[in-house]
Amino acid sequence: MFAGPVDFLKGVVAMDGLPAADRVEVCFAGRSNVGKSSLINALTGRKSLARASNTPGRTQEINFFTVGDSHYIVDLPGYGYASAPLPVVEKWQRLLRRYLSGRPTLRRVFVLIDSRHGIKKVDQEILALLDSSAVTFQVVLTKIDKLRNDAERERVLTQVRGALAPHPAAFPELVLTSSERGDGIATLRSIIASLA
Ligand code: GTP
Ligand code: MG
Repeated sequence: MFAGPVDFLKGVVAMDGLPAADRVEVCFAGRSNVGKSSLINALTGRKSLARASNTPGRTQEINFFTVGDSHYIVDLPGYGYASAPLPVVEKWQRLLRRYLSGRPTLRRVFVLIDSRHGIKKVDQEILALLDSSAVTFQVVLTKIDKLRNDAERERVLTQVRGALAPHPAAFPELVLTSSERGDGIATLRSIIASLA
């Protein structure tokens, strides 16, 4: 499917703007700056399709990309951006909750976790929300090129597995990625392609 053309379709700020639920859909969630947009760019082989930046909180809309004629890839706004005003955060949580519970074609939510930081309290809030929306989610560790050695890698894997234990909707396999180096990109592509 990634052999087909990839295009930006639209940015959505409210439920009534969602495109028709007529394709397999996967989305990418994670804290601001975790590397969501960079990962989508790496997956699709398009350098600046999903805007990646140093400014946390840059992606404010639910961005839909079409992959070939079979899949939507969805880039969610980052959560946990400390200086976002409370009403903005609440509006975003409401939209996310509605999107997650009202999208029958949404096959999997990839929850991105920075491999240097592991699962934080703010991530746990999203995991709880996912538990209650009955959608399967899978953790993707990002920026593994930043890990210095195997011990650091084992430490984060242990922390993440422990934090996921109470979440029955979590897919057990963790995907380790680096958008910069390319690690895990082919694996993630084949996972997405298999979700027909
Ligand atoms: P928001 O849209 O603000 O929520 O951020 P995001 O999750 O889309 O993060 P984005 O892809 O914009 O990346 C944030 C920063 O991390 C950028 O400076 C990227 O260059 C950097 N980054 C992303 N992926 C990697 C990676 O695999 N390795 C390294 N070393 N840096 C990365
Ligand atoms: Mg982004």
